Parts: sequence; structure tokens; C-alpha cells
Amino acid sequence: MTINSKIFRTSTFRLAAIYLILFAISVSAVLGYVYWNTVGILERQTDETIRAEVQGLSDQYRLLQLAGVVDVVKRRMEEGGGSIYLLVNDKRERIIGNMDMLPSVAMGEPGWIDFPISVGKAGTRQRHTGRAYHAPLPGGYTLLVGRDVEEQRLFGMTIRRAVGWALGLAIILGLGGGWLLSRNFLRRVDAITATSRTIMAGDLTQRMPVSGSEDELDRLAQSLNDMLGQIERLMTGMKEVSSNVAHDLRTPLTRMRARIESALRSDDAAGHRQALEKTIEESDRLLSTFNALLSIARAEAGHSREGLAETDAASIVHEVAELYEPIVEDAGGRLTLDVDGEIPVRADRQLLAQALSNLLDNALKYGAGGNTEGTSVTVTARAEDGMAVITVADNGAGIAQQDRTRVLDRFVRLDESRNKPGNGLGLSLVSSVMKLHNGSLTLGDAMPGLLAKLELPLLVETRQPA
Ligand SMILES: Nc1ncnc2c1ncn2[C@@H]1O[C@H](COP(=O)(O)OP(=O)(O)OP(=O)(O)O)[C@@H](O)[C@H]1O
Ligand SMILES: [Mg+2]
Repeated sequence: MTINSKIFRTSTFRLAAIYLILFAISVSAVLGYVYWNTVGILERQTDETIRAEVQGLSDQYRLLQLAGVVDVVKRRMEEGGGSIYLLVNDKRERIIGNMDMLPSVAMGEPGWIDFPISVGKAGTRQRHTGRAYHAPLPGGYTLLVGRDVEEQRLFGMTIRRAVGWALGLAIILGLGGGWLLSRNFLRRVDAITATSRTIMAGDLTQRMPVSGSEDELDRLAQSLNDMLGQIERLMTGMKEVSSNVAHDLRTPLTRMRARIESALRSDDAAGHRQALEKTIEESDRLLSTFNALLSIARAEAGHSREGLAETDAASIVHEVAELYEPIVEDAGGRLTLDVDGEIPVRADRQLLAQALSNLLDNALKYGAGGNTEGTSVTVTARAEDGMAVITVADNGAGIAQQDRTRVLDRFVRLDESRNKPGNGLGLSLVSSVMKLHNGSLTLGDAMPGLLAKLELPLLVETRQPA
């Protein structure tokens, strides 16, 4: 299909065509009204005057016979002004008038006639159009009264021509405008179609063209672009996860395989046993990595919020803190809990508990760092400015300002913690869980130590009035 035949099928062109038809009808109506009020009025006035004159002359004939009519006509003729008079007898011979003879069209029934006349002196004669009324007078006479209507005819012609031009121009401009508009529209739609083809072919970096006019096509392109951005982010995230998983699982698996292989080669029973124990340890670590990755994937999966339910954040904090208290105390540390009342939120209990456990796990792992009094962990939870705020603070070395965003990424572990077990997935999961809850994780300074702060929107209670 050529671009031109496509243009005629666009909705823009159809709209333009409908608009054009309506416009042409209203322009015709306006111009018709103007014509009727100018040319029409002039013609009707002329006819009226002629008719009145014929009436006057007929009355004159009845009162004063032929002589009266001749008298009046003679006077009128002297006044000039483009009037035409002719009075003939039954033999069609002129009695008086400024025409030589009755025009041939004046035969037959009395009434209106238009006929050619010649005006001016000999040598500069011009043909004009005359309009007259002819009527018989008693006694076989015929009276013709008329006007030179050449000027009116020219005026009418001028107006008709102007109306014709105006209409023609309106139609040409309308068609041209419609064509241009549709072509522009079609070009942009074609550009969007072409871009979407490229994207479907696999190039996710492409974006729909936006003209900047902020019209409906722009808005459409903009939201398509937003959608593409979201898809691209998800795809990149997925690619990252899978390459990270592949990378992170390959090393322990290879290590495990090598250990089993060397154990098989030796005959030492104690060695076999040790290798099996190490293998179990390694597979536990692999399992925990898998679980963490699955939890992150679950928290990030299209922001599926179906798992969220009305729940009390304070009770989750209590539960998790109770679980960790003996572990902290066994390590010679102290866990302080500061929670009051209920904190209603919409949350996935399991994920929120997992997030909190990750923070406590870190506090326990990195908290004692160089501190002789042992680990001290403080957990607080309160409702504040429409938000549920949960903090976990320790007394360790903390995280330097410049690393506080970086550690939220998957598999990031700081150099000073290389000697401790871990995958670098804990904070990443906390951050994903908070995003799922429309909340946030911020890392700060507990002076000394790390202050991790979780914030999520409070559930506004909508109690029915009793
Ligand atoms: N409370 C803390 N004090 C000091 N450093 C911390 C603390 N919490 C986390 N970090 C630093 O941030 C890094 C990332 O923490 P994250 O919890 O994501 O991973 P991890 O604890 O190393 O491993 P995982 O939690 O997956 O077992 C840690 O390796 C550590 O270097
Ligand atoms: Mg951790």
C-alpha cells in the first residue's frame, strides 16, 4: 500500500473530510445569503420600479388616452438614466420610445423579457443587457418599459465568481490541510510501528519517538516508553541475577566436586568422613544462598502484592527478637528491645520477619568488631508520621558512608568481612522486601556501629461508625 492510499484511510483524513463538507455547506449558506441580499435585492427593486411604471402608464392611458402616455414617456426619456421605453401600434410601428423596434422576444404573452440592447453613439456602441416588461394597451398598442441592467449583470457575475473562488479555495485548502495533517499523523504512527518492530526483534534499548508537542500520540509514546523502561529494568535485573547465581554457585560446586574426587582417590576412612562433613556444610551454604535468591526473586516478582495482609509489625519484631536473644546472649552480648503498642501495617509477615532476621544476623556477625564489652544490639519499633519505623543498631565498626548504597547490591561483601561466612545477599533481600512494601531501608551511623532503619507505611484504620 502506498503512503497516499494509506493517508485516505487515516481517521485524521476522514475527520478532515467531514469537517470540510460541513465547512463547505456553511460557507455556501453564508455566501448564498450575501448573494441574495445584494444582487437579489437590486434585481427585485428594478423589477418593482418597472412594474410600478407600467402600472402608472396604463392608468395614464385610461385617463388621457395615447397623448397622455406619449407625454409622460417623452418626459421620462429626457431624464435619461438607462430607462427603456417603447410604444408601438398594432402594426408594430414606433409611436414613441428610445428603441427602434420591439425585440423579437417581446412577441406573445405579456411578461418579463431579457434582451440585448446597444447603447452609446455610433462608433462606440456597446451591447448591454436590458430587462423589460411588455404589456398590451387597449386599441392594439403595446407598451414596453425596461432598464439597462448591464451593471447589475456585471455585479452579479463578479459576486458569483467570488463565491465560486471562495468555495473552490476552501475545498482545496481543506483537502490539502487534511492531507498534510494525515501525512504527519501517519508518519508518526509509522515511526512508532517501526520502533516496536525493532524492539520485538530484540533491541530493548530502542524508545518510541516523542515529538515534544505533548499531544495524544506523545502521551501514548511516553507511556509506551515508561513501560519499555520497566521491562528493560526487569530484564536486566533477571540477567544480572542469573549470571550472579551462575557465578556464585559455580565456585562452591567446583570446590565440592574436587573434594569428593580427592576423597574417593584415598583409602583413608577418617578422610572420607571429613570430606562428607565438609560436603554437607557446603551444601547447606548453597541451600541458604538459593533460599536467599528465591526470596529476593519472590519479593521483586512484578511487585506481586497478593501476599500482603493487615498485620502487626510490633509482634513480628517481638518474635524475631525473642529468637535472637539467646543467640546474642550465648555470644556474651546483650539485646535491648524497645517496642510499644501495636503497629498496624500491610505486610508479608514471613518476608518482613526474614528481613529483620537478616539485619539481626548482620548485627551479630559484624557488631562485636573490636569491641571488648561484647555485642550490644538495640532493636526499636514505633509508629511515626504515618510510617512504621523499625531500627536495628549494633556497636561494631559500621559501614563507611561511601559503601552504604553499594552493600545493598547483590553479592556485595566488604573486604573487612571476608573472614566471616556469608553470601552478600542479606541486605539485598532487606532492600527488595522494603520496596515490595512501598517502604525503604536506610543505613546510618549508630556511633559506633551500624544503624539500619526500616520504614513502611502505617495502615490507616478505617473503623465503621457504630
Ligand atoms: N552491621 C554491620 N556492621 C558492619 N558491616 C556490615 C553490617 N551489616 C552488613 N555489613 C557489611 O555489608 C555487607 C553486606 O551485608 P549482607 O547482609 O548483604 O551480606 P552478608 O552478611 O555478607 O551475607 P549474607 O547476609 O548473605 O549471609 C557485609 O558483607 C558487611 O561487609
Ligand atoms: Mg548478612
